[in-house]
Amino acid sequence: MLPFILGIESSCDDTSAAVVEGTIVRSNVTANQEIHSDFGGVVPELASRAHQQNIIPVIEAAIQRANIRKNQLSAVAYTQGPGLLGSLLVGASFAKSLALGLQIPLIESDHMQAHILAHFLQRPGHPHTPPSFPFLCLTVSGGHTQIVLVRDYFDMEILGQTIDDAAGETFDKAAKILGLPYPGGPAIDKLASEGDPARFSFAKPTIPGLDYSFSGLKTSILYFIRDELKKDPGFIDKNKADLCASIQATIVEILMGKLRAAMTSPQSSVLSPQSSIHNHHGSTAPLHQSLVTGHRLPDVAIAGGVSANSGFRKALSEIGKKEGWNIFIPPFEYTTDNAAMIAVTGYFKFLKGEFSDQSGTPYARSRW
Ligand code: KG4
Ligand code: ZN
Repeated sequence: MLPFILGIESSCDDTSAAVVEGTIVRSNVTANQEIHSDFGGVVPELASRAHQQNIIPVIEAAIQRANIRKNQLSAVAYTQGPGLLGSLLVGASFAKSLALGLQIPLIESDHMQAHILAHFLQRPGHPHTPPSFPFLCLTVSGGHTQIVLVRDYFDMEILGQTIDDAAGETFDKAAKILGLPYPGGPAIDKLASEGDPARFSFAKPTIPGLDYSFSGLKTSILYFIRDELKKDPGFIDKNKADLCASIQATIVEILMGKLRAAMTSPQSSVLSPQSSIHNHHGSTAPLHQSLVTGHRLPDVAIAGGVSANSGFRKALSEIGKKEGWNIFIPPFEYTTDNAAMIAVTGYFKFLKGEFSDQSGTPYARSRW
């Protein structure tokens, strides 16, 4: 019999609880906090209060929808960090009390690892094959942009990451400039589908290596729109769809550029045993070599809130076909923050017997 693990996620503005049975999602309930939409970003104080209000009903609903009783739970997993401390404390305190009350193990989950491990979640009635180790994952969220070499469930190495702002933050800031509500990513995504992605161009970073930078792009969008508004106060309204499409295309291009570079970096050679062999065009050719020799193709995944973006998903599928990568894109409900990913991370730790005591403290910044 597989254990039932309750996951609790409260790192930012979503209060979420989920029950998994092994890797199978039995329930996944999220209360979004509408309150932040008027402020153009998450207000930490309001987020903590909303978590306090939401946490009991959300956990009750998760247990009820899983069709189990509390005493059937084998462990409680919670997000320890990174995230907003006040928000994390709500989930952490509740998880600790519940584990203590039920006399079951307590498990700490790292939010960024959990985004990646969401690929191992199984939805009843939707059989799927998760990526095989080792694989590369581009995790893109509101606070992080990381290219991660995933050797095993908890053996992950960051090959590159943003040196300033995250891609999700750039979507959110751009949306704010355009007068769209928070979170800006989904709003830009929707409007972008009606616009011309080649209409406007913005500054792209030129930093070396596998790291990202988005602050220059943010400034470029801000200054461009400010200047255009001086000439025509109706500029945004007249060009909203094209602006969204062009901003989205620029962010996706930046994301893809470094992902492609990461796939040809020496660290990624573990993904495809033949990747260093050159084909007759003179380029490295994991696809050709893998097919010819029977080696598996390299597995490449995306994760995090921005992996919900339709332009990003499409670009990855196209590049995957072209370059010969096996592409893994999470179902929508496991891209943005959710507790199912925390619960499944808890399950993999449960298998290792990696439990925590009551003394664990939340952390704001990534521990990697
Ligand atoms: O992973 P996530 O839910 O929370 C963090 O861990 O930060 O990511 C939230 C981010 C926000 O910046 C939001 O605008 C972005 O993900 N996002 C999107 C889309 N859906 C959410 N960005 C672009 N297109 C989307 N469809
Ligand atoms: Zn997240």
